[in-house]
Amino acid sequence: MTRKTPEQLRSHRWYGVDTLRSFGHRSRSAQMGYTRDDYVGKPVIAIINTWSDINPCHTHFKERVEEVKRGVWQAGGFPMELPAMTLSEPFQKPSTMMYRNFLAMEVEENLRSYPADGVVLMGGCDKTTPGLIMGATSMNLPALFMPAGPMLRGNWRGATLGSGSDVWKYWAELRAGTIAPEDWREIEEGIARSPGHCMTMGTASTMTSAAEALGLSLPGAASIPAADARHAAMAAACGRRIVEMVWQDLKPSDILSEGAFHNAVTTVLALGGSTNAIVHLVAMARRANVNLDLKIFDALARVTPLLANIRPAGEYLMEDFYYAGGLPALMAQLAPRLKLDCITANGFSLGANLAGATVFNPEVILPLERALVAQDSLAVLYGNLAPDGAVIKPPAALKRLHRHRGPAVVFQNYADMAARIDSPELVVDENSVLVLQNAGPLGGPGMPEWGQLPIPKKLLEKGVRDMVRISDARMSGTSYGACVLHVAPESYVGGPLALVEEGDEIELDIPARRLSLLVADGELERRRSAWVSPKPRYLRGYGALFAAHVTQANEGCDFDFLERGEPTPDPEIF
Ligand code: FES
Repeated sequence: MTRKTPEQLRSHRWYGVDTLRSFGHRSRSAQMGYTRDDYVGKPVIAIINTWSDINPCHTHFKERVEEVKRGVWQAGGFPMELPAMTLSEPFQKPSTMMYRNFLAMEVEENLRSYPADGVVLMGGCDKTTPGLIMGATSMNLPALFMPAGPMLRGNWRGATLGSGSDVWKYWAELRAGTIAPEDWREIEEGIARSPGHCMTMGTASTMTSAAEALGLSLPGAASIPAADARHAAMAAACGRRIVEMVWQDLKPSDILSEGAFHNAVTTVLALGGSTNAIVHLVAMARRANVNLDLKIFDALARVTPLLANIRPAGEYLMEDFYYAGGLPALMAQLAPRLKLDCITANGFSLGANLAGATVFNPEVILPLERALVAQDSLAVLYGNLAPDGAVIKPPAALKRLHRHRGPAVVFQNYADMAARIDSPELVVDENSVLVLQNAGPLGGPGMPEWGQLPIPKKLLEKGVRDMVRISDARMSGTSYGACVLHVAPESYVGGPLALVEEGDEIELDIPARRLSLLVADGELERRRSAWVSPKPRYLRGYGALFAAHVTQANEGCDFDFLERGEPTPDPEIF
C-alpha cells in the first residue's frame, strides 16, 4: 500500500507552504497556542461533533471528543474539532429528517473549506448517522464514524423499559385506563437513564450498526453502551486509526462498494432494524454512486433471517446485545450471506474482522435454526396506491392483517387525525384501514414519524391493539403494528394516496407484495383531475430549498443537487 508523504497532505496547502496566506494560517494557529511542530506535516483530523445542550443522546460527546483528540495526538495527527448541527430526535420540529440533508451539507462544506485531511464523525441519534456519512461520502476524505453507543436499559418497578417501544405500549395502556397517571409519570423518569442513543433496535441502533456493516466504523464499535468504559477506549482508538487512514489514503469511495451496501442491508434485516434505514441507506448509496433499489431490500428480506432478539421485534435491549457478543457476533452468524472481501475502515476485510467473533448468549443473538423470523422481516409493496413503492414490517403486524381488505377512514393531515381519532363519532371498526395523507417528504414536511397512527380510543377500549394503517410518513424504529409506510409518490404531490376517500376499499396483501385501492380507474381519473395542489408551505429559507429539491422516499429524500453531478473541487484561491 502506498503511503502519502507530508507534502501530499491536503492541509499542506494551508500550513506547509511559504505564502502570504499560509503566514496567516500559521500565525492564527500560534494565536491559539500551537507551534509549527504541532501541525506542520501532520494529518489534520477534523472531528465533526454533533454535541449540544439539547441532544440527550450525545451528552457524553464533550468527553468523547477529548478522547478522540487524545488518540489523534498519540498517532501523530493534529485534531480540529468542528461542531455541527445536532439533530436531536426528541426535540427538533417538524422533524429531524427535514434537517438530515442540512447536516450532510454542513459536513461536506466544513471539510471542503477547512484544512482537513481526514475526519472522525461523531453521531448516533437517528438522523445524525446518515447525515454525517452522506456529507463525508460526497467530500470523500478518509472518514471514520464514531457511534454514540446505546444508553443503558430503562427500569420501572423492576421491569425493563425500552426506548420508544414502551412509550407507545404504556401510552396505549394509559389511554385504555389500565395504568394510572402516576405510573405514567414514573415511567417518564425511568425510561432514559444514561447518556447514549435509544437502546431498542430503533433507527439509532439500526443506523450505527449499518455504518459498521458498511465498514465505516471500527469492528464492534456500534454495540458498546455509551456509559461503558470501553466506549471511551473506542473513541481514542478512532483518533489513532483515522491518522493512519489518512496516510493510507483509505477513503469512503474505497469502502462504500455495492458489496458493502449488500452487507449493510443484510445486517439491518437480521437485526430487525428500523424501516427508516431504507430511506437513509438509499440516500447514502446514491451519494456513493451505488444503485440500491427498494427491490433489493425486498429480495434480501426473503432470504435473511432475523437473529437479533431485541425490542421491538424481540425481547432484549442493546446492552444485552453487547454482552452477547455485539454486532461482530451477529454478523459472523450471517457470514455465508455477506460479502466478506469488502475492505473496512481498519484496513482489514470484513471477513478478517469477523474471525473469532463469538456469541456469548444465544438467547439474545439467536442461531440460524432458531431465527426469530426465518424470512420476510420487511416487505416492499407496490400497486395502484403506491406505484413507486411502500414498505411494511410484517412481523410487527398481527398475522390476520397480512391479507386484509377494509374501508378507508381518511385523515387529511396530522392535525385532522389528532382532532378526530378519539372522537366517539368516528365511524371505525377493527377492519377499517386508517389512512393519513400529507405526511410525506414535502407534506409532513420531512416525512415525520407519524406512520404508527394511534388506534382509536373506542377500539382500544374494546381490546383492539392493531389494525391496518397507511401513510406516506415514516415510523419510529421502535414502533410496531400493521403500518404501511413511505407510500410513494406522496399525497402532497398528488400521489394516489391523495385520491383516497372515506369508505374506499383498500386491499393489503403482504405475501403478494400488493397495496391496492379498489376504485375504478375512471373514478380515480376524475378525482385526479379535480385534485388541487396545496399551497407551498415555505416561501423562503431552508424550508423553500428543501421543498424545491427533496426527492421522494423511494429515492432516499436527498436533495437532487447533492446526489448527482461531478465532485466539487477543492477551493483554488489561497
Ligand atoms: Fe436520540 Fe432516540 S432520541 S436516538
